[in-house]
Amino acid sequence: MEPEDETTRMEDIASLRSELIASVEGAASLGELETIRVAEMGKKGRITAMMKGLSGLDPEARKAAGQDLNTLKTEIANALEARKTSLADSELDARLMSERVDVTLPVSPESEGRIHPISQTIQEVVAILGEMGFTVAEGPDIEDDWHNFTALNIPSDHPARQEHDTFYLPGKGDEDRLVLRTHTSPVQIRTMENGEPPFRIIVPGRTYRCDYDATHSPMFHQVEGLVVDKGTHMGHLKGCLIEFCRAYFGVEDLPVRFRPSYFPFTEPSAEVDIGCTRSDGGLSIGHGDDWLEILGCGMINPKVLENCGIDPTEYQGFAFGLGIERMAMLKYGIPDLRTFYESDLRWLRHYGFSALNVPSMVGGLNQ
Ligand code: PHE
Repeated sequence: MEPEDETTRMEDIASLRSELIASVEGAASLGELETIRVAEMGKKGRITAMMKGLSGLDPEARKAAGQDLNTLKTEIANALEARKTSLADSELDARLMSERVDVTLPVSPESEGRIHPISQTIQEVVAILGEMGFTVAEGPDIEDDWHNFTALNIPSDHPARQEHDTFYLPGKGDEDRLVLRTHTSPVQIRTMENGEPPFRIIVPGRTYRCDYDATHSPMFHQVEGLVVDKGTHMGHLKGCLIEFCRAYFGVEDLPVRFRPSYFPFTEPSAEVDIGCTRSDGGLSIGHGDDWLEILGCGMINPKVLENCGIDPTEYQGFAFGLGIERMAMLKYGIPDLRTFYESDLRWLRHYGFSALNVPSMVGGLNQ
């Protein structure tokens, strides 16, 4: 390479600077900018070539030109960075403009989930009884013998134990073996053992019995109700349950009948029937001369209160238990219980409920 004089070198640097700055600022896209960076800043770029040319200069001139070239390199690197940011911003702006989301478009009905009739029915029952002052309590699905049977006045030799088709868990002796709870009634015991009366609770939850056909499933749901207070009597039980049935089925003058029955944990006990008409295999709830059983209830047996350390001469109470699937089948005309657990989306779309209408007494139980 021909040695050049210092002024020429300085001029070269100045003109390369304005050329490079102009091309960086003129880059129209991130791709174009990258091409410039690779060509000019790399080993084969002109700045590097000029650096190599410095060796032909005398020491003074080499020092000054070297400093200038380093400054130029930093300047161009900064210019590249600044241009990159501004191009990225405007590319994003352009995308935001062209890919705008139209929030006024209707939502796709396909993506909206449905509330399962079991959840819906539990919410309806809770809404009605919540309005009457009940609060929700819960208990374990795996119970011991005491809470599921003995404390409820069902001793080991009691025939009611056989009626329950219990799932027993393996291991342990007869008295302390564990079971899948056969009803929600053990939560009555847990509530009374662990608190002080008065009580007014409802207990929605899963229950288990070894049974399977169109109206029975090994796992099903119940809601238990328990009221304990001073002076509670059968009139309270009747008023509460008549009001509940009418609100649940949405029939103001629904006929409700209390028929004597037997449960070990209530005395007296009753089965509640509602008025209906049956014709050609169809069922219509409300009027007519036929009756349909919907729940079990009774005044709490004094022995049960005693088992929980409550003095039955001071406190009385009533309890009731209803099957959620049965209540849902009757109200919504679902013919087969087994379909509740098949997870068939077509079934859920047909029988399910909108998640946006939470059941309430003021807002409507089910729209
Ligand atoms: N536990 C009873 C059943 O499962 C229902 C019931 C509850 C009856 C409370 C009376 C009182 O059949």
